[in-house]
Amino acid sequence: MPTFRELWDGIAPIGRGANGYLRYALTEPELVLRDWFRNQAARRDMPVTDDGNGNLFAWWGDPWAHDAVLTGSHFDSVPHGGAYDGPLGIVSGFLAVDRLREQGYAPTKPIAIVAFVDEEGGRFGLPCLGSRLLTGAIEPERAAALRDVDGVTFGEALGDLPAGLLPGLDRRISALVELHIEQGRALAVPVGVASAIWPHGRWRFDFTGHGDHAGTTKMSDRRDPMLTYAYTVLAANKEARLAGAHATMARVEVEPNATNAIPSVVRSWLDARAEDNATLSAVVDAVVKRATERAGRDGTELTVTPESQSPEVDFDTSLADRLADLLGGVPILPTSAGHDAGVLSAHVPTAMLFVRNPTGISHSPAEHADEQDCLSGIDALAKVLRDLT
Ligand code: GLV
Ligand code: MN
Ligand code: MN
Repeated sequence: MPTFRELWDGIAPIGRGANGYLRYALTEPELVLRDWFRNQAARRDMPVTDDGNGNLFAWWGDPWAHDAVLTGSHFDSVPHGGAYDGPLGIVSGFLAVDRLREQGYAPTKPIAIVAFVDEEGGRFGLPCLGSRLLTGAIEPERAAALRDVDGVTFGEALGDLPAGLLPGLDRRISALVELHIEQGRALAVPVGVASAIWPHGRWRFDFTGHGDHAGTTKMSDRRDPMLTYAYTVLAANKEARLAGAHATMARVEVEPNATNAIPSVVRSWLDARAEDNATLSAVVDAVVKRATERAGRDGTELTVTPESQSPEVDFDTSLADRLADLLGGVPILPTSAGHDAGVLSAHVPTAMLFVRNPTGISHSPAEHADEQDCLSGIDALAKVLRDLT
């Protein structure tokens, strides 16, 4: 049986650039990772199915017989992301299966390792696209029409209209356990269990002004959307700090994006997260209000479009408590990062295992977990899969 190091080193070069990973959903590196997935499954005599939504499943046991226990995560990365966010859960899934087979264990329920498509929304803009489709949280037609920056739709990339909701979802799946690198500085021991996910969402802000000459347009004559945008970034930062929430405007597009032209359009995305829905709404409302007032002063226009909503998730408490006990009393902690497990949790008993992140850095090439902690994660996952099956 391969070691963690062998599997991890095997996928490490795939999609790695000079500055982190570019593993966008259904682009070449992610397709290579999918081939790797099929190959690992074949080596273990695990048949692979897909659900017509771009999610892959490798089966130990009868595919989609009732009460399957799923584990896994996603291959796709954010732009210039790290190695662990996503792939660690899939690699750990295969190694946990190896561990259980070495022990001579025979599960009474099918176990599937899943690779969800476009969890980060790095290509098609909507996070957890695969799990939203699988659970019917998004209409297949709407998902199919989502476009990447080159204008390619998800439907074109998938080669079909997504299948959408998996019929009999809650009969077919009895539990999902996603193992993931922890993404803050919240876990001081090798492994923990998730309690909750902060509600979060994405809002597109289109600031429209009047394109003009940077040299000849008097300051008093300008309608510069960059000013409204800049003010909005500061307002988002301030409102989030005041509320104990998180707000980020990290992606921006400028038209025409020229040094010597006042822009006509600035487009940016607000990523906002808070401990509860009410705080999140209050922060976003305050940012929109202040941005709108500022647009009035700048002579610009602002349109705000909600692009995705991920409501508060409270993972199944009795399951989390049971798994934490099973693993020797490990900590149970919330996260403000989004996960496919959060989407599934509205339909089936769901849990997450976190592996310690010594620096807390994530969505960055500097993301790291120690090998010893990854091995502890695999041990923990094997125990949990055994318990659930
Ligand atoms: C996904 O990792 C997210 O939290 O945005
Ligand atoms: Mn992520
Ligand atoms: Mn992730």
